[in-house]
Amino acid sequence: MKNKRLSKYPEEIQNWIMVFPNQANPNGNMFGGDLLAIMDTTAAIAAKRFSQTEVSTVTVEAVHFAEPLWVGNNLKTTAKVVAVGNTSMMVKALVYRDVGNGELLKCVSAFFNLVAFDENRKPTQVPNLIIEESNFEENRQAIKIIESAKQREKDLCD
Ligand SMILES: CC(C)(COP(=O)(O)OP(=O)(O)OC[C@H]1O[C@@H](n2cnc3c(N)ncnc32)[C@H](O)[C@@H]1OP(=O)(O)O)[C@@H](O)C(=O)NCCC(=O)NCCS
Repeated sequence: MKNKRLSKYPEEIQNWIMVFPNQANPNGNMFGGDLLAIMDTTAAIAAKRFSQTEVSTVTVEAVHFAEPLWVGNNLKTTAKVVAVGNTSMMVKALVYRDVGNGELLKCVSAFFNLVAFDENRKPTQVPNLIIEESNFEENRQAIKIIESAKQREKDLCD
């Protein structure tokens, strides 16, 4: 008998770092590649905890560096599974700068598409995502992004 697919709530993963001089680009603000590495790692933790499997990033979509981050800034990164397919998960990752007085400024956003693997590194089914009303919009956004990315890839490859 086939196992029933589990349904799970997403969990928001958060981490903080301080920007060090070796993470700056020649203009003095934080290098985008370092930011993406932090976001990718946080997204992978969110996806691993959701799926309880090993995971790998397959695509990164809709990256937006909206505000610069500077050496000495405290950064908060968040990641949460916002949509699932059969074996893949879309994780929305955000980076904020601490601007003091308890205020955070959103600086970077991206959607990471990660695939769950079984012990033979074969894509394996992930749980169903329980979507609360407050998450409807980001779920709709993530599905739209992944569908248009797949269509774009198809158009480019055909
Ligand atoms: C991830 C990987 C196993 C997928 O291989 P694949 O042959 O495309 O596997 P499948 O066709 O079974 O697809 C698996 C899932 O990935 C999704 N996927 C694959 N290519 C995709 C793409 N270009 N865009 C969006 N989703 C994609 C599929 O839709 C599927 O999700 P679903 O089951 O929810 O529908 C393979 O591409 C890989 O190993 N890539 C390298 C990953 C890596 O090294 N990442 C960097 C380090 S983390």
